[in-house]
Amino acid sequence: MDKLVIEGGVELQGDVKIAGAKNAALPLMAAAVLAEGKSVISNMPQLADVRTMGRVLAQLGVKVEGEGEVYALDATSITSDTAPYELVKTMRASFYTLGALVGRLGRAKVSLPGGCAWGPRPVDIHIKGLEALGAKVELEGGYIIADGAKLRGNRFVLGFPSVGATVNILLAAVAAEGESMLDNVAREPEITALVRMLNQMGARIDGAGTGTLRIQGGLPLHATDVAVIPDRIEAGTYLAAAGLAGGDVTLRGADPEHLTMILAKAAEAGLRITVTTDGIRVQKNGGMRPVDVETAVYPGFATDMQAQWIALMTGAEGSSFITDTIYPDRFTHVAELVRLGARVTMKENVARVTGPSALTGAPVMSTDLRASASLVIAGLAAKGTTEISRIYHLDRGYENLEAKLTALGARVRRERD
Ligand code: UD1
Repeated sequence: MDKLVIEGGVELQGDVKIAGAKNAALPLMAAAVLAEGKSVISNMPQLADVRTMGRVLAQLGVKVEGEGEVYALDATSITSDTAPYELVKTMRASFYTLGALVGRLGRAKVSLPGGCAWGPRPVDIHIKGLEALGAKVELEGGYIIADGAKLRGNRFVLGFPSVGATVNILLAAVAAEGESMLDNVAREPEITALVRMLNQMGARIDGAGTGTLRIQGGLPLHATDVAVIPDRIEAGTYLAAAGLAGGDVTLRGADPEHLTMILAKAAEAGLRITVTTDGIRVQKNGGMRPVDVETAVYPGFATDMQAQWIALMTGAEGSSFITDTIYPDRFTHVAELVRLGARVTMKENVARVTGPSALTGAPVMSTDLRASASLVIAGLAAKGTTEISRIYHLDRGYENLEAKLTALGARVRRERD
């Protein structure tokens, strides 16, 4: 297994190109299943999760071409209605095949994803939404078996504005005859990007970016070409790295509209944030102030930035409180950050960070993607050598991480254990 070795204590300087967003690419790939023909998706991030989704779709009969920034997905013939456990267990977003297959074939057999390192992560809302559209859903042998042969548009209120449930219900609703009104949907930019693609395919969906989507279902759909939006979490991660390690970094291609909350919090902490024509410039001049955050659905502070924010706040003078309301158990990084010298205590879903800490390198490991990112940030600022094991987590969501960091002046290398 590979590990990342960081010699910390170097300021970061220069430009980093922000890749396409993983969490936008995955639903767009699933949407391609809805129509015959070849959809071409560009600005794809080169990530393990994208390759996994490619394998999931190939298994359904989609012809998947391209490993680079452009993927062609030819869904002319769908030959299987099953997404097996072996694939779904490696990546929860494979569960998007549920809505896509119900929309395309009127039936699906998709493995239940199960829990993950951050807690149980239920899918009840996905299922209730499909049932509201007339699908019969059963659980058998760990698989969700959905029969949606007679989907009809309906009104459905999501019990929580879940990103994944919004994707799955929307993919089925565009195929359901008649009008659907989905209330309390997720407003994340990745959902807006999905709606844009579906509308390009011939669907009629209004309300993207608001809490209500109105869908004229049952219209004929065709393949289309789209580009993936920039990754706001990758951008936020490099922002936090520059903030803690110090320096002057431009996040090239990042969309400030998608980062409003993070940029506001970073400015409050004392980082200098400038929106330029080609991205966002982050400069650190002097010390940082502690800034509390509480995760919330978009446009609130993203739970996917919680771990990185804790790492950043180890450099602020005083105490900050970081609360995760979306995933109360998502704090495995805290014990590892403490190994690097951070002073963080936990009380339920609230981390209290007391800084500034003089971090020192150590061997660390983590159990998930963003937790690993927080260790990279801390390692870049820590004196001495930090070795991060299990970096397959990072490879799931950060394109060319060590190359991008090296280009910013960091001393980072990948080694085999
Ligand atoms: C997506 C993101 C993930 C991010 C999360 C929250 C992708 C591939 N993943 O995950 O990176 O951290 O949004 O921004 O885009 N819930 C239920 N019942 C359900 C579904 C969700 O109770 O049926 C709850 C969850 O337990 C959680 C909250 O809703 O507390 C948000 O989850 P959700 O928005 O569904 O996250 P994901 O789509 O899984």
